[in-house]
Amino acid sequence: MTNILIVGHGAREHVITETLSSSGANIYAFMKSKNPGIAKLSKEILLSNLNNFDKLKTFIKGLNLDFAFIGPEDPLANGIVNFLSKEDIPSIGPFKAPAMLESSKIFTRNLLEKYKIEGNPKFKIFDSLKGLSSFLDELNDSVAIKPDGLTGGKGVKVFGDHLRSRQEIIDYCKELFSKGSKLIIEEKLIGEEFTLQSFVDGTHLVGMPLVQDHKRAFNDDTGPNTGGMGSYSFNDHLLPFISENDYKKAILIMEKSINAVKKETGYEFKGILYGQFMLTKDGPKLVEYNVRFGDPEAMNVLPLLKSDLIEICEKIISGSLNKIKIKFENKSTVCKYLAPTGYPINAKPTEVVVDIEKIKDIGGYLYFASVDLRGNKIKTTKSRSIAVLGIDKDISKAEQIAEQSISYIKGDLFHRTDIGTQKLINKRIEHMNSILN
Ligand code: AMP
Ligand code: GLY
Repeated sequence: MTNILIVGHGAREHVITETLSSSGANIYAFMKSKNPGIAKLSKEILLSNLNNFDKLKTFIKGLNLDFAFIGPEDPLANGIVNFLSKEDIPSIGPFKAPAMLESSKIFTRNLLEKYKIEGNPKFKIFDSLKGLSSFLDELNDSVAIKPDGLTGGKGVKVFGDHLRSRQEIIDYCKELFSKGSKLIIEEKLIGEEFTLQSFVDGTHLVGMPLVQDHKRAFNDDTGPNTGGMGSYSFNDHLLPFISENDYKKAILIMEKSINAVKKETGYEFKGILYGQFMLTKDGPKLVEYNVRFGDPEAMNVLPLLKSDLIEICEKIISGSLNKIKIKFENKSTVCKYLAPTGYPINAKPTEVVVDIEKIKDIGGYLYFASVDLRGNKIKTTKSRSIAVLGIDKDISKAEQIAEQSISYIKGDLFHRTDIGTQKLINKRIEHMNSILN
């Protein structure tokens, strides 16, 4: 049996655990709150702050681990892979230096520029207001403003969406400077976003089916930005507004980036590289990299994986992903998140009751996110609580399965009813057509 350490406690880690466990792994989970799904599939768990490597050291002693799978970005940015490596445990996840692809947006933009990799929008880095006005003039205020570090997807503000005037842009920059943050101002990209996740062994990169996430809290893309309210994927592994050629261009950008990061830091990138792209009239542009699976996007791809995830991980570690063929089922998926009422601004924690058997009966899947099992009660925190997933050849059927699954979950929760519906997908297609023509 393969002994695997899972780090993290969300729905993403639940689906990773489920996939590894169904390949026959013994799971040991290091998590902050007691995810009932992960706990059930684990041999042992330890609840802890994920950046407490002393506690981790005590936990892993004597477990005879073959490797670790790191779910979230925070411990990666803090060097958990460097720590585990000293304990002779290889990881699916990058060392601290290549993890800068996610933890420093400035590092990534500069890397693409230095190594002449296509995909950057026009950008400039600022640590004061000096030169700001002339750059805003050049871009006609049509910009995105990004603080340098990890912000949980909530620090980026885009003109027209979150900022309405030059004054608001300047006020936001001043606010970030007052916190000591450097920032990037970049050209606002116009198009449709897509997520391309990949397995990377240091040299070879294997892309997974494309996914589209939904950042805004409410139907019709209204409300504040969130960690992601749901996502869908299509049976042909593309999206109706993304061509095979665009997919290949995005893969090329990612391949060049992992070569560049090796040259720049001296470390190979091993693990999952997640590219967030915007398809614009000038082709795919890089919005950002994440150095881990997406949440929710992990749930759109892992349940479709026909190949063995343990074997894939072993090949990532040995640098020989080119020796296997990785296959995904040709099915569509719709994932929807339930979050406590008031999320993400003023969430009220609630208790949830779930009829898992009914969800299984209709062919649905359920993944626990930020919930805590206390006795036999499931309490939510203030973050996204539970994800449901529908899988079918036909995306409308997958969407119906997701909705029906939600009817078996009780609690003071809300979700987006439009994700994965034909109406919303048509809107995306029309939007892309209007940009291309
Ligand atoms: P990030 O944290 O970089 O993924 O940014 C969060 C969200 O802000 C992205 O998913 C995009 O929707 C949006 N965004 C980031 N950069 C840009 C950009 N240059 N142009 C337009 N939208 C952007
Ligand atoms: N779905 C966005 C993320 O995982 O960061």
